[in-house]
Amino acid sequence: MRDVIIACDFKDKETTLNFLKKFEGLNPYVKIGMELFYGEGPDIVREIKAMGYKIFLDLKLHDIPNTVRKAMANLARLGVDMTNVHASGTVAMMEAAKQGLIEGAEGREVPILIAVTQLTSTSEETMQRDLLIPEKIENVVAHYAQNAQKAGLDGVVCSPLEAEIVKKACGTDFKTVTPGIRYPDGDKGDQARVTTPMKAREIGTDFIVVGRPITAQEDPVAAYLRVRKDFLGE
Ligand code: C5P
Repeated sequence: MRDVIIACDFKDKETTLNFLKKFEGLNPYVKIGMELFYGEGPDIVREIKAMGYKIFLDLKLHDIPNTVRKAMANLARLGVDMTNVHASGTVAMMEAAKQGLIEGAEGREVPILIAVTQLTSTSEETMQRDLLIPEKIENVVAHYAQNAQKAGLDGVVCSPLEAEIVKKACGTDFKTVTPGIRYPDGDKGDQARVTTPMKAREIGTDFIVVGRPITAQEDPVAAYLRVRKDFLGE
């Protein structure tokens, strides 16, 4: 399954719901991040879910396995479709995360669970100096992705460049979720390494996360449909 996920990086519930009303009937996948979730609480997820949208809840959990398991059970109860953890929390933590989702799903479809390998805000130099990981960053990304796979996760969040490394290390069925999507004629904003929806499709990434190229457009629905067509060919 491949899809376009709209990053709903809005300041509050009202702005988010007003934006989503425009997509009634299309019911896209939307990403809810920490800002909105911590500002509005879990009700924002319940409400968007009730409107019929699929939700990627991007909270990047990282704690001891027992805590992560219980937190994940609650996220599954909320009805999210996809969520994530930091792979640096170890294989044991990721296994616990998966277990928690299974428990919370209570027989319903278990949400897709993906891992963050290294944040794209972390450079190789910072990783080596601050985190004392004396490796090339692509080796770390590949290794953390393999750990995620070992723990039974479905995939990782990564840059388009890393998607190829991850697919090579873990196989094509292991999902990649890729932000940093831009059109050549669009504003790059603060994204440095970007890729077009067409290129993302060629690379074989499974989900693209698109924010401002949709949310900041005058006609966001038309922008979404353009991205869908270019990425999914439909
Ligand atoms: O507006 P834009 O398309 O840049 O939004 C991309 C979304 O993906 C934002 O929500 C951003 O936080 C998220 N993201 C990212 N790079 C990562 C991980 C997440 O841009 N490595």
